[in-house]
This record gives sequence, C-alpha cells and structure tokens, in this order.
Amino acid sequence: GTPDTRTPTGVETGVAPTAHGQQGAFLTTAQGARLRDTDHSLKAGPRGPVLLQDHHLREKITHFDHERIPERVVHARGAGAHGLFTSYGTAEGLTRAGFLKKDAQTPVFVRFSTVLGSRGSADTVRDTRGFATKFYTGEGTFDLVGNNIPVFFIQDAIKFPDIIHAAKPHPDREIPQAQSAHDTFWDFVSLHTEAQHHTIWNMSDRGIPRSYRTMEGFGVHTFRLVNDAGETVLVKFHWKPKLGVHSLTWEEAQLICGLDPDFHRRDLYDAIEAGAYPEWELGLQVFPDTPGETFAGIDLLDPTKIVPEELAEVQPVGRLVLDRTPTNFFAETEQVAFHLGNLPPGIDVTNDPLLQGRLFSYVDTQLTRLAGPNFPQIPINRPHAPVNDMLRDGFHQQAVHAGVAPYRPNSLDGGNPFKAGDAENAFLDVPVRVAEAPKIRANPLSFDDHFSQVRLFWQSMSPVEKEHIIAAYTFELGKCYEQAIKQRQLQCLANVDPVLCEQVATGLGLPVPKPTQPVAEVAPSPALSQMGQVSPVD
Ligand code: HEM
Repeated sequence: GTPDTRTPTGVETGVAPTAHGQQGAFLTTAQGARLRDTDHSLKAGPRGPVLLQDHHLREKITHFDHERIPERVVHARGAGAHGLFTSYGTAEGLTRAGFLKKDAQTPVFVRFSTVLGSRGSADTVRDTRGFATKFYTGEGTFDLVGNNIPVFFIQDAIKFPDIIHAAKPHPDREIPQAQSAHDTFWDFVSLHTEAQHHTIWNMSDRGIPRSYRTMEGFGVHTFRLVNDAGETVLVKFHWKPKLGVHSLTWEEAQLICGLDPDFHRRDLYDAIEAGAYPEWELGLQVFPDTPGETFAGIDLLDPTKIVPEELAEVQPVGRLVLDRTPTNFFAETEQVAFHLGNLPPGIDVTNDPLLQGRLFSYVDTQLTRLAGPNFPQIPINRPHAPVNDMLRDGFHQQAVHAGVAPYRPNSLDGGNPFKAGDAENAFLDVPVRVAEAPKIRANPLSFDDHFSQVRLFWQSMSPVEKEHIIAAYTFELGKCYEQAIKQRQLQCLANVDPVLCEQVATGLGLPVPKPTQPVAEVAPSPALSQMGQVSPVD
C-alpha cells in the first residue's frame, strides 16, 4: 500500500510509534545494537553446544515464540481495508453527529469476516459475514459493527455463548470448521426457534456471498439518533454495495473452498490495488421514537425482526469508498478492535437486550485478545479526535503522562477545562423513560413471534432462490447424525411453509410433519410505508 496522510494522529504519548522494517544499512537487535551475523548461533567451538550468552539467538527465538496472539473468539477470519466516508448531509436534521454533516469526510477502516471458522479457514463457506466499520471522526471513533444479514440468531446476549458453542465445531471432533452442517447447530436453532429467521438467511444465497464487494451490511439493532435540538428518532443502519448484491452458487462455493480458500481476501485486495475501489452507500431506515418502540407493529428492540423496506425505505446518508489495502495484516486487520460503545455525540443505543450485552462483550474479550487495557493506543485503534483521558498505566502503556493530578476537578494541574453538559460531549444521555417495573428475566411478548418473518423471507424469494434454499437445508441437515434433530428442524419448517417443509423432508427421506401453529399471514401493507423521511439534499 501507499503511505497515507490520513493515518491516525494518535494519542499524546510523547513517544512516536516506531515503524520497524528492514530498511537501513544495518540489522540490529531490538535495542539497536548492530549485528554482523543472524545465521549462526554462538557455540563453544564449531561442533560445541550453543551458549546461553547468545543474546541475539535468544531474542530472535523468544520474540518468534510469542508472535501469536489469541484469535477472535468469533469472526476470527477476516480481511480489512482503509477508505473514506463522505456524508451527503441528508441526516443533518436527525443527528448532531459531525461526520454526518454535509460534505464531511471521515477516514475509515473496515474489517469483513466469517463468524465461525478459525483464522485459517476458507472464505467461501456457508456462514454469516461480519461487516465492521471504524469511522475515525473528529468527535471520537464511531464503530458500526454489523453483519451481512439484517437479523441475529438470538434476542438476548445472555444466549450468545450458547449459540456460538452450538455453531462452532463440535468439542470432540473439532469439525466442521465453518459450516452449519452439524448436530449442535441444528439442535440449537430448532430448540431456540427465534434463530429460525437468521438461519433461513444463512440457507439462502446470502450465506455464500460472491465477494465482500457485493455484500450488504446491516447494523441489525435499532439505534437512537439525537439532533442539535435534542429531538430523537430510531434508526437502522444499512450498507448498500454499489456493485449490487451477488452470491456464489453452492457448487462454485465448494470448488473455490478447495481451489482458492483465500478467494474473498484476494478479491478485496486485488480490486483495491487495481483501482477498482469498492463502494457502499450508507442508508437509514428512520422511525419515530415512540414510547412503544415499535413500527408498523414490529418491535424495534427485537433483533430477530427486520422492518421491510416497503414499509420504511432506506434513505441514503453518505458514501464509503475503500481505496487502500493494509500495509501489515497483523498491525491493522488483526489488531483492530471494534466496540459498539464507541459512539460519537448524536448516536445512542437502545434497550435491545442483544445490543446491551454486546456493549459489555467486545471490550471484555479485547482485554484478553490484546493483552490489557491499553489497546486503544495501538495505531489502528487510535482515535483521530484529541484524547485527554484520566486513564493511567497498565500493560503496554505507551504514554508518558505529565502532571500529578489525573482527577477532576483539581487544583494542581490547571484543573480540567471540560464542563459537564458541553454540546460536544458524547454520552449526553438522552433522558428516555425507563419503565418502572419489577426486575424480571423475561422477554416482551412480541419477541415470541418466531415464524412470521421467516415466512415473509421465504415468500419474497424467486423460484430459483427457493430451490437453492431447499437444497441448502437438505444438504446441511443431511450431515446431522441424530434423526430427532432433523425431525425437529422439519417441524420448524412446517411452521414456515408447507412446500419448503415437504421438499426438504422428501430430500432427507423423512415424513412431513404438520405445523404446530397456524402458518402466519404476512403480506405487508404498502399503506404503512410513508413515515420517517430523511430530509432531502438541497
Ligand atoms: C466480533 C458482529 C452479536 C460478541 C464481531 C465482529 C462482528 C460482529 C462484525 C467482528 C469484528 C471484527 O472484525 O473485529 C455482530 C453482530 C451481532 C453480534 C452484527 C448481532 C447483531 C454479538 C453478541 C456478542 C458478540 C450478542 C456477545 C454477547 C462478539 C465478540 C467478538 C465479536 C466477543 C470478538 C471481538 C474481538 O475479539 O475483537 N461481532 N456480533 N457479538 N462479537 Fe459480535
């Protein structure tokens, strides 16, 4: 990659990050001592044992021995790129966020990923894809940590360890690497039927994207925007690829797994290096911030539900162009750390219980993955906004903090000129009403509808897409060892659609079950679509 003038400006560390490479006339130790030989260890004579005093040998091997860091607990396999986001200004009336003002330009880093496979797994497996974007805004970093599927498997983060344990390779055989073709996966999704919506997206062509460049991205959860007047709306984020949405066929995906397991990674890198910069438009579905947090009868806090675009169109707010490949995979793609709590002023969270748990999980895992609390100082994670925090010390601290009084107010270091309530502040909590209710471990009743949107998805498919979905269920379920699990999943399909259920059952050679509940009526009404317009560009 070419050098970039947009690299993070960095925290005030006083110590410039070193760009070690093999440039320069001399090879040195990590301490800068010049070396004459890096190919022979120091021995007691040409045939003698190696001497412990050979510091270069020990340094070289020790450092190598510690090169690996833990891979991500999920989304371990990924590929990243740098780019620029340009705002149209169409969301100005909805949010005070500076990076969404007209013509604002913001550097970004995007990491695409599969969810289940390990770091070395193949790219074209059937899986959900991550689409995580770090916007280095002047008001603090904004991380939009989304997927290429607009709904999630579960409604409450407390089940995340469970779905991942079920979907990752079996603990005994450590297979399959990254496909849905196994007992624990189908056991989970047929018992926790809220997962059926995400699962049908996986079984559709969306589960095998042709390229990262041809994927949509979704923030999944509903977020709350706050404008300069303190008014709020609820929104869902969408990325629309300029090249359109395209998938592989199952046969292509299988062949490519063998022929070029790095297919998506290579495609992203090659396209950018060739100047064919991938582009997406960022869009918003906008909903009034009503106390019920529903729209057209759909619970906006339920991450297993979409709001059909017929009911709330996606309104474009800006454009993303990826135009620079990483210089170093480890430094950038591997060490990047996304977190849903990284929000600029003007974008806030909602009470979606999946979102709420994610707010805890990312930083928590990064404390292990990136060894301690100072990973925001790693170059790829450094904000572009000036940093003046009161966080001190800890493993891998890069800063040499001046002063003696990291607390406020103080009378020793000139106080701290920040005033609570400044308009620029993030974390200006919107005073949304918190229900006065007894604490309870339960979901709202609306979360109990697990099938109507699965049916909506199925019904929106063309005949060839339906064929692909039937083939995918049949293939993946066919890999299960337990008949009872196949039958339970067929029971779920009976609640979705009789044809889908019958075709898959026939393919598996199993009897066709009857639905356990009435198959939902789902035709959306276009009359409900005229709400929540983003202000037009002038
Ligand atoms: C990683 C998306 C739900 C925990 C990721 C990544 C993406 C993502 C894109 C990869 C980030 C990267 O490229 O570094 C989503 C979406 C979700 C979801 C869209 C639902 C809407 C959850 C939940 C939890 C969770 C419910 C936990 C309660 C994690 C963890 C990582 C991760 C621990 C690894 C982070 C790291 O090591 O840096 N997720 N996720 N995710 N996610 Fe999620």
